[in-house]
Amino acid sequence: MPMPPSGSIVLLTGAGISAESGVRTFRDAGGLWEGHRLEEVATPEGFAANPGLVQTFYNARRAQLKEVQPNAAHAALARLEAEWPGRVLLVTQNVDDLHDRAGSRNLIHMHGELRKARCTNCQTIHPWEGALTEATPCPRCERKARLRPHIVWFGEMPLEMPRIFEALEGADLFAAIGTSGVVYPAAGFVEAVGPTCHTVELNLEPSAVISAFKEHRQGKATELVPAFVDALLAQ
Ligand code: OAD
Repeated sequence: MPMPPSGSIVLLTGAGISAESGVRTFRDAGGLWEGHRLEEVATPEGFAANPGLVQTFYNARRAQLKEVQPNAAHAALARLEAEWPGRVLLVTQNVDDLHDRAGSRNLIHMHGELRKARCTNCQTIHPWEGALTEATPCPRCERKARLRPHIVWFGEMPLEMPRIFEALEGADLFAAIGTSGVVYPAAGFVEAVGPTCHTVELNLEPSAVISAFKEHRQGKATELVPAFVDALLAQ
């Protein structure tokens, strides 16, 4: 890979990296959106219209985290961060906690986290393990019916965008892993890097933005990602 030995790496992951852990992706056959209208469960308007349905949807996904484990791809990215002499920033669109549990630390959850709840009144973000109901009070301001999943919904601004774009501008290597490339701004990250940055897509199928990448590898994340990390650390 054309890459300085201690260059700066930015990684973007999507649902495909967690698929082999048993977390459903969004757009593959049998994907998460199939049983629901996206507007119902992933927009502020959907939450306003039916908060109980939205809380139930994310409660189930939060509960599922207890049944899944990080896989070899998550572990490989944590190892890259630990062993690479340069900077490694991992940006994930995933709201699961599998990167965290695998040991990644320089990690941005740009679409939020299932294991957090946010108060719509005082804006405090609370660690959250159990179920949320319409009557769950905020532990800080104690207002009822004000806690929502700490998830970025359609129409809302993803988190930490200035930090992400700054890292992309200075990146020597950008890799997108397990993402379909249809949801912006993440799908546009490959266009935000400088002209000398090497760009690689690692995905089961060609993404919607595959032509913007200089290199692509097709296959399962648990096979592609450990090999990709081994090659980087061996150079
Ligand atoms: P998608 O479900 O759109 O895409 C998952 C991608 O992973 C597809 O391109 C699959 O081909 C690929 N894939 C599936 N299994 C894989 C495997 N074992 N190894 C490698 N690749 C595999 O998920 P995202 O691109 O993450 O946003 O979706 C982006 C955003 O859309 C999500 O963060 C979510 C959703 O709306 C919010 O909730 C805000």
